Amino acid sequence: MADAKTGELMEKIVSLCKRRGFIFQSSEIYGGLNGFWDYGPLGAELKRRLKDCWWRSMTQKRDDVVGLEASIIMHPKIWEASGHTTTFSDLMVDCLLTKKRFRADQIDPQSGVAWFYTGAVDEQTRKECKDAFSVLVANGKHPEHARKVARQFYQERGLASPSLAGERSEEVKDSTRYNPENGGLLTEPRPFNLMLKTYVGPVESADNLSYLRPETAQAIFAQFKNVLETSRQKVPFGIAQIGKAFRNEINPRNFTFRSREFEQMELEFFIRPDEAVEAICGRVAKPTAPGHPGEPQSDWGWQMWHQYWVEERIAFYESIGLPRATLEEYWQKPEELAHYARATVDLLFKFPFGAQELEGIAARSDFDLSQHQRHSGKSMTVFDEELKGAWGKLAAARQAELAESYFQARLKYLTKMGLPGERADKQAREEAEALGKGYYIPHVIEPSAGVDRLALALICHAYVEDEAPDEKGKLEHRVVMKFHPRVAPITVAVFPLLKNNPELVKKAKEVRDLLRQHLPVFYDEAGAIGRRYRRQDEAGTPFGVTIDFDTLGEKGPELQDTVTLRERDSMKQERVKIGALAAKLLESSR
Ligand code: GAP
Repeated sequence: MADAKTGELMEKIVSLCKRRGFIFQSSEIYGGLNGFWDYGPLGAELKRRLKDCWWRSMTQKRDDVVGLEASIIMHPKIWEASGHTTTFSDLMVDCLLTKKRFRADQIDPQSGVAWFYTGAVDEQTRKECKDAFSVLVANGKHPEHARKVARQFYQERGLASPSLAGERSEEVKDSTRYNPENGGLLTEPRPFNLMLKTYVGPVESADNLSYLRPETAQAIFAQFKNVLETSRQKVPFGIAQIGKAFRNEINPRNFTFRSREFEQMELEFFIRPDEAVEAICGRVAKPTAPGHPGEPQSDWGWQMWHQYWVEERIAFYESIGLPRATLEEYWQKPEELAHYARATVDLLFKFPFGAQELEGIAARSDFDLSQHQRHSGKSMTVFDEELKGAWGKLAAARQAELAESYFQARLKYLTKMGLPGERADKQAREEAEALGKGYYIPHVIEPSAGVDRLALALICHAYVEDEAPDEKGKLEHRVVMKFHPRVAPITVAVFPLLKNNPELVKKAKEVRDLLRQHLPVFYDEAGAIGRRYRRQDEAGTPFGVTIDFDTLGEKGPELQDTVTLRERDSMKQERVKIGALAAKLLESSR
């Protein structure tokens, strides 16, 4: 639970986001819409830059990952295959008094005395209500509080002056059955599907029901074969996608952290099953030490790939200015894992409101492709020439061993999916046989991150209050957003020293136009130079360039065509030749 200080910090961050145009409440002029946010000019740039960084590092800088941009609304069967229609739900509880809805797992355990009532009678009309109700009051708090809340409950049920019936009390410890805001009883937890529904076509019928995707991942699985066939990739390889996702979250909260509309950056990285690796390499490499395992190797099993992607993702966050110390790795316990997952690591960022998930990196076995194969009837197997060749050279006993291991894994999946025993056995045997001929359904490692959460993490991490000298050298309070130059919405601000000097303005505009070809630039000529610096500090602009009279050559030819380059964090200033500026700035923001 956030304490007053962290609450205050979040308030300052939210206020800065609005004041400087990072993030606005969606539909604000109509009172806003809970769980929806708009990104203003600086926020839009920040998001765009961090998506570009992700895209570059995940696809363009690698040979083994290609991109996809799929539609948001897809065939509803996709969500049956993925399990979202049946299992994508949170347990929710409603306050019986206020009807406010909570996620059951977000109710903190509370202790105190619970006051129970069997019903109430209206003092005037003698009308009766037999609905039982109870109220939890903290130890030491007067029971009258419970009676007041209970009376409100019965008033809601039509008794104007309720007289409470059957009052009794009981000590309660660590209960999650009561509304933390008023102590009123909550409903029993009920599952609530988080997918947002819509209708495709002119008729609003069950046949036309569809969903706004709750994750981008499923399109990658559904298009796996098309991408494989057109991209000339071979397993191991990945497909990356950035795009909007929608979840009807019960309780959107912590600013943009849990929203109903958000963006994801997901990679599905397809790998060989361990049996295929073993057949080809004669061994399956497993992690032996923590840390980055280095360049991918052909003998890596799923655990090595999983560790590799965890480390790659941490390295990515470091590269955009979130040091490792701001992150935590949370390895889900076996009982927390989704039924198909072999391992999941949540990368948490230490937000002011607590360490919370930024990204999940899951080893999802061959579950997803198997599901789409089963539901669509289209084969999701790949043919692996190397496996076929290697298998033929294995001793018969080894072949039998590997086939048996693969058979058992497939049998487990097929049985879990409800295939009757004999059919499951037959299909798993056929699949184990196909493995020896080079065919299998790839397994997958999935690093899945949220753009909005990352933007919020960057904003929270960047927010600093310190002191900076004004024009007269007097220290004044400043708010500075210390974004890494790679993601800062604006890389460099260009200022003519004076607005009313045409030569300075002309030169400054030349510098702006020169830099604009390479970097996001902001030109500002309004106000004292100190004020202009301060505005850019708040926007998180890492560099400021001032064009002064030295630039025009007033102090002699050595300083002509040089500018003052100010670094936001250190506030250090240096003279740099205009011709060298772009390269210097690019160097620090690449
Ligand atoms: N395909 C796997 C998947 O969607 P997830 O953990 O549900 O996994 C992945 O979501 C990431 O998407 C999260 O780590 C988070 O960054 C982001 N995310 C999920 N729900 C979100 C929400 N309601 N608001 C903002 N971001 C969310």
